[in-house]
Amino acid sequence: MNIKRTLLEPLSFPGLTLNNRVVMAPMSRRRSEKGIPGRSTAIYYGQRAGAGLIIAENTAVTPNGIGYLHTPGIYNDLQKTGWKRVTDEVHAKGGRIFIQLVHAGRIGHPENNEDGAPLVAPSAVKASGEIRTLHNGHLPIPEPLALSTADTGAMIEAHIKAAENAIEAGFDGVEIHGAHGFLPEQFLHPLSNRRTDRYGGNIANRSRFLLEIMEGVVAAIGKERTGIRLSPFATINDLPAYREEKETHQYLTDALRELDILYIHLSSQPVDGKPSINQEYIKEIRNRFHNLLIVAGGYTRESAEKMLRSGLADLIAFGRSFIANPDLVERFRHNTPLAAGDTSTYYQGGDCGYIDYPAIYDAAQADARP
Ligand SMILES: Cc1cc2nc3c(=O)[nH]c(=O)nc-3n(C[C@H](O)[C@H](O)[C@H](O)COP(=O)(O)O)c2cc1C
Repeated sequence: MNIKRTLLEPLSFPGLTLNNRVVMAPMSRRRSEKGIPGRSTAIYYGQRAGAGLIIAENTAVTPNGIGYLHTPGIYNDLQKTGWKRVTDEVHAKGGRIFIQLVHAGRIGHPENNEDGAPLVAPSAVKASGEIRTLHNGHLPIPEPLALSTADTGAMIEAHIKAAENAIEAGFDGVEIHGAHGFLPEQFLHPLSNRRTDRYGGNIANRSRFLLEIMEGVVAAIGKERTGIRLSPFATINDLPAYREEKETHQYLTDALRELDILYIHLSSQPVDGKPSINQEYIKEIRNRFHNLLIVAGGYTRESAEKMLRSGLADLIAFGRSFIANPDLVERFRHNTPLAAGDTSTYYQGGDCGYIDYPAIYDAAQADARP
């Protein structure tokens, strides 16, 4: 087991060896036209291969689950080929890379889905808000169609198939996106899940969709290559706090422990100016789940080191810092101040604000450039 717990120390766990404990958090950059990651995406992730582990951005498992415009997919061969370029690039630089698999469910717009496919969700409950579309600017998110029980099964199968595709495309593993108000969390949440079949109602039923995905993915690609992201108490994408939220996540965590998956990745988000996940909660998950725990949300080098020293987490994920600091790990090593990213280019297409942030250090090496 791991004895040393500092950010720059390697991690060695059955099935996974990482050069350091810095994780690049999944970040949607929405630059994949027709859902196909291009050459710039390979460059982008290659530049960040100094992370102990990259978790590539949320990537759609079906043509009707794309969500935000120009989100990549991993359900067809062209997409797999695009991703293979990415994984080759990261591996050539000594990095490790997982991919976050998403079905956006009721978040999105048919214009962003392939062939204008309608939105689908556990129930026909519309999310508030607007979303950017290719031809018509920002449009209100429409009401989704409720999935039949059979179609719910098909969505589970789509996640499993996407996980297999990811391994074929060279990923070291997958992270199921169970967070941030997308389809699996729409099943967990009583506001968006009003079903009366075995996927709705009590905690076990509302958790079934996500847990059947996890079981299927573990069976298909192996538990040592399977992780999950969860964001209890966050309220993103129009899913407010609900009664039984804590109990739901306790139930899930216990089931994930039984499945013996590689990791749980807790995403903390600001809610009313406070982090949605506090130290007490992390402690509780730590006690319930004994494989790797990744935490994300607002960490600095100092707070990350403190968290590792406390023994509560094994890996710390950094999001925004990785956008403008491709060599983030080396900047930590050399105590170099971090550059600020340009938020206006986070989600815009093109290479500007994507692959043009300079590295001071070689991302794959500890050596400083002259
Ligand atoms: C541009 C951008 C895109 C993001 N896209 C995703 C995503 O695809 N999936 C996800 O789970 N979280 C996503 N997030 C959240 C990050 O993974 C991370 O949890 C968040 O930025 C907080 O970490 P930080 O304070 O280190 O930035 C995104 C965040 C940003 C800034």
